Amino acid sequence: MRFVPPHPPRGAPVAVWRGFLGERSRTAVYGWSEAAFELKHIKRRVFGYDVHIPLDPDAVQHVLLDNAANYVKPDIVKTLLRPTIGGGLLSSDGALWRDQRRIVAASFAPAAVDALVPAFGRAAAAMAAGWSEAVIDMAAEATAATMRVIADTLFAGDPRLVSRAAMDHITAALEGAGEARLQALMGLPVIPWSRKGRAARRGQNFLRSTLAEVVAERRTAGGPDDFLGRLILALEDRFDPKEAAELAIDNAATFYLAGHETTANAVTWTLFLLSEQPDLQAEAAAEARAALAAGTDDTDLPARLPLLRRILEESLRLYPPVPRFDRQAVGADRLGEAEVAPGAIVSIWPWLLHRHKALWDDPDAFDPDRFRAGGRARHRFQFLPFGGGPRLCVGARFATAEALAVLARWLADWRFEPVPGRVVKPSGMITLRPAGGLPLRLFRRG
Ligand code: HEM
Repeated sequence: MRFVPPHPPRGAPVAVWRGFLGERSRTAVYGWSEAAFELKHIKRRVFGYDVHIPLDPDAVQHVLLDNAANYVKPDIVKTLLRPTIGGGLLSSDGALWRDQRRIVAASFAPAAVDALVPAFGRAAAAMAAGWSEAVIDMAAEATAATMRVIADTLFAGDPRLVSRAAMDHITAALEGAGEARLQALMGLPVIPWSRKGRAARRGQNFLRSTLAEVVAERRTAGGPDDFLGRLILALEDRFDPKEAAELAIDNAATFYLAGHETTANAVTWTLFLLSEQPDLQAEAAAEARAALAAGTDDTDLPARLPLLRRILEESLRLYPPVPRFDRQAVGADRLGEAEVAPGAIVSIWPWLLHRHKALWDDPDAFDPDRFRAGGRARHRFQFLPFGGGPRLCVGARFATAEALAVLARWLADWRFEPVPGRVVKPSGMITLRPAGGLPLRLFRRG
């Protein structure tokens, strides 16, 4: 049966200035008209910047891959991210980016990630141990589980990184992003003036100081040969001591943040989609049970979950946890018919590309069979939940294996039902979450 999960209303085109007021300023995916899902290119002028949104996969490929050297992380993004993640992997360019990417690559190579699969399952089981047959906010559970995974697999299980306070501060930091973005776009100093803005700043300070502590202790006291240990040593090898110390904190914060919030959203949206489709959920649960029979140390678990993988991919298409990401042109360029001036912003929008009418059949409908081999041909740059080109998400394999392992554990043991009358709305400026969490009713599977 055709199932069309909710998306924001698509009215008449919204004026650019409205992007800084009301729902549109809080939710990136709100306020798009039907035309945005049909056009090949959108160009806007925002506070003196030309903003291009290429919606033709060839043009997206040009920006992210073919001419990637011409497109860097925008100054405004760096201004916004600097207080939290400094010049770490996500927010640097050029040689500094390349050195850091090389340093972390080994920790995210396929064999290294596969070895972590049992740890993903353990974190999921530990969360579920506290559940009962009740209404539970699965967005909060997914966040706590993915936080636990990052803390356990990258930071030797540091308890400071899995606290309730850490979770609340991260939510505040993300929710305050809209206000800071407006100030940065207007060329103003980013000063938090609202209650939300101040909470965001407190959140950033908490994260930064907590991770600075974690890194400082590791540098003096040593510790296991894990991601953080290898990162610190490799940075000390490559950079002078002061820069190495700063970059260690920048990257600890980068991986802590980028590594859990996005995956939590992928797990949450997938549970939402399955809660609305009980028959499909039962099928996925049966597949999970059979796959888990291989034991808790099975590093091949993700390969045993082909149906769940298709469901996850369809969930990433419909609700990309990163709905947009940006670049800034260094030199002049051309994207199809559009001239790109030096300094122009080029925004890549998975939210629009993933639901574009020229690229997908019945784009708003949930259909995991799109991801079966032999389906309609797909351009490599029309489905970009993890970005593309040299800056493809370094954690893509980690995130996919983790989401599959967590979902498999939870679906095998529990059935998830919607709470009657509750409407789910996508929300969020940087990452896409269900507004107000995702309360679901849980039942033990017999
Ligand atoms: C479903 C989960 C995830 C999604 C949807 C996601 C999405 C993305 C996207 C779209 C980018 C590219 C941004 C750009 O090009 O501007 C990116 C980059 C990045 N991601 Fe992820 N990510 C996820 C999970 C993870 C995990 C688990 C980690 C680490 C453990 C991680 C770490 C990073 C880092 C460090 C970068 C920057 C890479 C670079 O610039 O070289 N991500 N991610």
